[in-house]
Amino acid sequence: MAKKLFIRTYGCQMNVYDSSRMADVLAPLGYEPADRPDDADMVIVNTCHIRENASEKTFHELGRLRQIKQDRADRGEETLLAVAGCVAQASGEEIITRAPYVDIVLGPQTYHRLPEMVARASRAGGAVLETDFPVEAKFDHLPAPRADGLTAFLSVQEGCDKFCTFCVVPYTRGAEYSRPAAAILAEAEGLVANGVQEITLLGQNVNGYHGKAGTGSLGLGGLIRQLAGINGLERLRYTTSHPRDMDDDLIAAHRDIGKLMPFLHLPVQSGSDRILAAMNRQHKALDYLRIIERLRTARPDIALSSDFIVGFPGESDADFAATLALIEAVGYAQSYSFKYSPRPGTPAALMEGQVPEAVKEERLAALQSLLQIQSTRFNRGCVGHEFNVVLERPGRHPGQLIGRSPFMQSVFVAAPLSLLGSLQRVTVEVALTNSLGAVLSDPERACA
Ligand code: SAH
Ligand code: SF4
Ligand code: F3S
Repeated sequence: MAKKLFIRTYGCQMNVYDSSRMADVLAPLGYEPADRPDDADMVIVNTCHIRENASEKTFHELGRLRQIKQDRADRGEETLLAVAGCVAQASGEEIITRAPYVDIVLGPQTYHRLPEMVARASRAGGAVLETDFPVEAKFDHLPAPRADGLTAFLSVQEGCDKFCTFCVVPYTRGAEYSRPAAAILAEAEGLVANGVQEITLLGQNVNGYHGKAGTGSLGLGGLIRQLAGINGLERLRYTTSHPRDMDDDLIAAHRDIGKLMPFLHLPVQSGSDRILAAMNRQHKALDYLRIIERLRTARPDIALSSDFIVGFPGESDADFAATLALIEAVGYAQSYSFKYSPRPGTPAALMEGQVPEAVKEERLAALQSLLQIQSTRFNRGCVGHEFNVVLERPGRHPGQLIGRSPFMQSVFVAAPLSLLGSLQRVTVEVALTNSLGAVLSDPERACA
């Protein structure tokens, strides 16, 4: 009889990709997707450790799942409970102590070993803990991903050697590893053969990609050029990038490759050189502004997005003002901003000058109101424009489907459910702060 698998995913797109890979690995064992944990024979919580509140979600979720596991046991049904992802890697032992009812704890590099872990956990009492494997083993042993719809993620690089002083990722995802170009091209061709038209290349430092290609090495710009040659692949995106790795070839790819969408998420974190140095970002505010200028020369309509941290240790009013000034100078289409969260084991957690919570709150509010003005302005500029959108999922209201614009805004399109999963030309009618409202440009053709 088929068994049911439920996966709860927190964190970044890498975790979303990994969750679907875990489902792929377990499919041959007979596991099919469940809609809710109550019906599942196996539940995986794929966790994120990036900020304290992200990490704490793991333990809240485990508390809820403990009850479900107990209720199922009372009905004579077994549930295997696994914790994957970055909290599993960073705090595996703590999970086993705080939540002894967990059966499997597995780090992000061990997903290819899941079938074996499931077998061991079903046999043994006590938790199975696996966190120590080289990342290349994961990519070498995972089966080819199954395509599901017109859009797909493709992980090209994992891990990070940059060691920004606030960040846990180098500790949870390990050293930087770039997959060989041939493996990526084969995975992309497989996805396209199964109907995928849009691929987002993923990596913690995706533009630091330097994969083996023949006897040499290939950067992200070169990889994008090769992928763009795949017939049937219409759109490419990549995320997330570091300013230090924004090289000439990648910038030129934005000029030359029509399939590369006019959007770039390029986190700057702060506009103050003093804070950038303390963060170990290894570039100055002006370097970032020059990159933006070169990108806009290459692709004048490119939409930009960033991550910001407010209240990094030692951040003064003047440092914060420099961040606002940088935002004014760039003009972002969208952005993510966070209060600095001290993470165990990272250098910044021990720095002097930790900023009081109230100041962080105040700065975050000021920063977000400026970013909102900019995103609303950008979105208003889209009204009346037409573009192609993949209608990826149903909206909250009937008669509404949601997709992404070329510039990455969410677009709510008035369209029948029958068009779910199709690519449609739409006309933007309304702009909100974080999304656009649109109608089908040619409803007659779309319904035919
Ligand atoms: N290079 C990866 C980083 C992932 S973390 C990427 O850019 O996708 C995503 C964002 O979380 C970072 O850019 C940063 O803005 C934020 N972040 C990371 N550590 C943080 C911390 N300790 N406190 C607050 N925000 C943090
Ligand atoms: Fe974290 Fe910095 Fe690496 Fe991004 S570049 S994952 S912020 S250490
Ligand atoms: Fe979170 Fe790990 Fe991604 S800490 S942001 S899930 S790399």
